[in-house]
Amino acid sequence: MNAQLTPAPANTELDAFWMPFTANRQFKANPRLLARAEGMYYWDTSGREVLDGVAGLWCVNAGHGRREITEAVTKQLATMDYAPAFQMGHPIAFELANRLAKIAPPGLDRIFFTNSGSESVDTALKIAIGYHRARGAGQRTRFIGREKGYHGVGFGGMSVGGMVNNRKFFGSSMLPGVDHMSHTLDLEHNAFSRGLPPWGAHLANELERLIALHDASTIAAVIVEPISGSAGVVLPPVGYLKRLREICDKHDILLIFDEVITGFGRVGRPFASLAFDVTPDLMTTAKGLTNGALPMGAVFAQRKIYDAFMQGPENTIELFHGYTYSAHPVACAAALATLDVYAKEGLLTRAASLSSHWENAVHSLRGLPHVVDLRNYGLIGAVELEARQGKPGARGFEVFLKCFERGVMVRQTGDTIAMSPPLIIEGKQIDRLVETLGAVIRETA
Ligand SMILES: Cc1ncc(COP(=O)(O)O)c(C=O)c1O
Repeated sequence: MNAQLTPAPANTELDAFWMPFTANRQFKANPRLLARAEGMYYWDTSGREVLDGVAGLWCVNAGHGRREITEAVTKQLATMDYAPAFQMGHPIAFELANRLAKIAPPGLDRIFFTNSGSESVDTALKIAIGYHRARGAGQRTRFIGREKGYHGVGFGGMSVGGMVNNRKFFGSSMLPGVDHMSHTLDLEHNAFSRGLPPWGAHLANELERLIALHDASTIAAVIVEPISGSAGVVLPPVGYLKRLREICDKHDILLIFDEVITGFGRVGRPFASLAFDVTPDLMTTAKGLTNGALPMGAVFAQRKIYDAFMQGPENTIELFHGYTYSAHPVACAAALATLDVYAKEGLLTRAASLSSHWENAVHSLRGLPHVVDLRNYGLIGAVELEARQGKPGARGFEVFLKCFERGVMVRQTGDTIAMSPPLIIEGKQIDRLVETLGAVIRETA
């Protein structure tokens, strides 16, 4: 197992890499370096096995080191490394769009390629504004997001997002004309709910209040994650998303679902909108699209949106937007191979068959010290711990560290521990993941 491991750099060699969303000085004083991955596991630079409880960063849905994806990428690199997608095309980009359209929620069969979740979000926001303009409603430029929402780190995504630390440094640089609905996390009513919380559908009515404030004629779109991941797993109350859909329809406002983490099987259906039976107008994806093997994102648009752009002389570019690496051939090859793996192994629905085992495992942590809530849906789980007096996040970080020391990787956001393992996980691995977390919580003051 150790033969191919990369040696750990000496601590002094860690300085040049300015790490993202990381406490750089703390990390570099005591680094956690991963060197190899296969199936459900990582190995660190000392050769220690680590169970992956978060699918990397919610992206490696088919597990690590998939031979099929490696082969497809290698073959594509040897055949054609790069081709532009501006006024040029290459066949597998079209093949991939067609394949995605087949598994998409109803009607969302026009696909725009990006390189990340953040780019997908900013693309969707721009498409929403362009759509209204194309229909003669160019004054519809406002967006409504939600507190605790995470939509990546572009200026658009950050502005519609609702995570305080991501926003406070950049206050004056936000998009103008953005408002936010309340989040739906309410421990008083919903703590320890199994699956979707029963209380809170009425929170969607806040959208009516914001529409009354700004007037529907100024609003382009509402953007929410069907299930918020990065803010510590916030589930939609039963009926909440349907209500949002109804209100958007009533006022001709587009509904964008950000499915960057919920897409590609995480919730037991290919997309959360299918699981919740609510179809958005635009859907943003990334992560699981290539199983995390290469950066790629995709925005799914209702055909009516695409068609609204297809006007005017045929030699005009309809949407002045795109990336050098939109539909990168190697990423397309990775995505096609990923979709093959998902189909062959039934991974886009496998979470549904594991979800009751998963739910019971997660809720077995009830009653442990400092556990104030447990949340689950599909193969997503979260344990919310009480914050230490005056030290928010400290307990969560300690639990995350101790889990890693015991060979289990989870994700920490403040005092919430999130789990989202590869969809290939087996029952025994679920038990090990949750039992390790439980043991660590028991001994963490
Ligand atoms: C819902 C959601 N949207 C957008 C993003 C941003 O994706 P990326 O980091 O690929 O830019 C994320 C990343 O976690 C996400 O969870």
